[in-house]
Amino acid sequence: MAPGWQGFVRSAKRHVPVGVKRRIRRTLPARYRRLWDPNWHRSTVRGNTAFWDELGRLQLDYLVEQGLQPSDYLLDVGCGPLRAGVHFIGYLEPGHYAGVDKRGDNLERARKVELPRHGLEAKQPLLLVNGAFEFSKLGQTFDYAIAQSVFTHLPLNAIARCLVEMARVLRPGGEFYATIYENPHGKTFLGEIQQSPRVTSYYDRDKYHYDLATLRGVCEGTGLTLSYEGDWGHPDNQKMILFTREGADG
Ligand SMILES: C[S@@+](CC[C@H](N)C(=O)[O-])C[C@H]1O[C@@H](n2cnc3c(N)ncnc32)[C@H](O)[C@@H]1O
Repeated sequence: MAPGWQGFVRSAKRHVPVGVKRRIRRTLPARYRRLWDPNWHRSTVRGNTAFWDELGRLQLDYLVEQGLQPSDYLLDVGCGPLRAGVHFIGYLEPGHYAGVDKRGDNLERARKVELPRHGLEAKQPLLLVNGAFEFSKLGQTFDYAIAQSVFTHLPLNAIARCLVEMARVLRPGGEFYATIYENPHGKTFLGEIQQSPRVTSYYDRDKYHYDLATLRGVCEGTGLTLSYEGDWGHPDNQKMILFTREGADG
């Protein structure tokens, strides 16, 4: 959109009563938010715009603690509009970050808004629109991968597909970190779980929770081994799970 139009909307807004502005916001489809809000695309990361900066930085800090080096290759599954991606891209060598998301609009806005805003265009991130976890289409292997706040929105079969595809692109010994809402009561517990003051999770609908035995079962035969990392500082109590690609020496 032309910057002149955004300027016009900004100055016109000053003359519109707050109540009318609220009503317009509620009535208009989300995509029209771009008319007045330069960060509208960030709202596609559901429920988490309040933690935009915190959750982006947290992911980089966590992976660096686990050993991520600038020379490593990283795959960001369900990368969204690069909330964490901008931090990873800044840290990694050019061409070492790949982000995959099912939403083309997320990636388009990431390319047009977030990369220039952070001065990162020269770092040449690979961005792939794909909803079936076909990571092989990226044509390379990875040392690390992360899926933050993605499994929490996925049914079990989709997680299984993601793990099968991940095993094909993770190098032996490579590490895939994924966050979940945990069900500590086991698979026969069908109730809801209050994960934090603002998040309730469910057995068979978004936001999903999973017990570890169920995830271990899904992992079996994929070439990945699951280990539980637990708390990692997520504000809504998502826990960290590590899937390691088998086959590394030692
Ligand atoms: C809550 S957002 C998290 C985004 C990002 N990981 C972060 O921490 O900012 C979940 C993202 O997963 C993406 N997603 C959901 N299902 C997917 C699938 N099957 N394949 C690829 N991306 C998917 C959504 O489009 C969305 O961008």
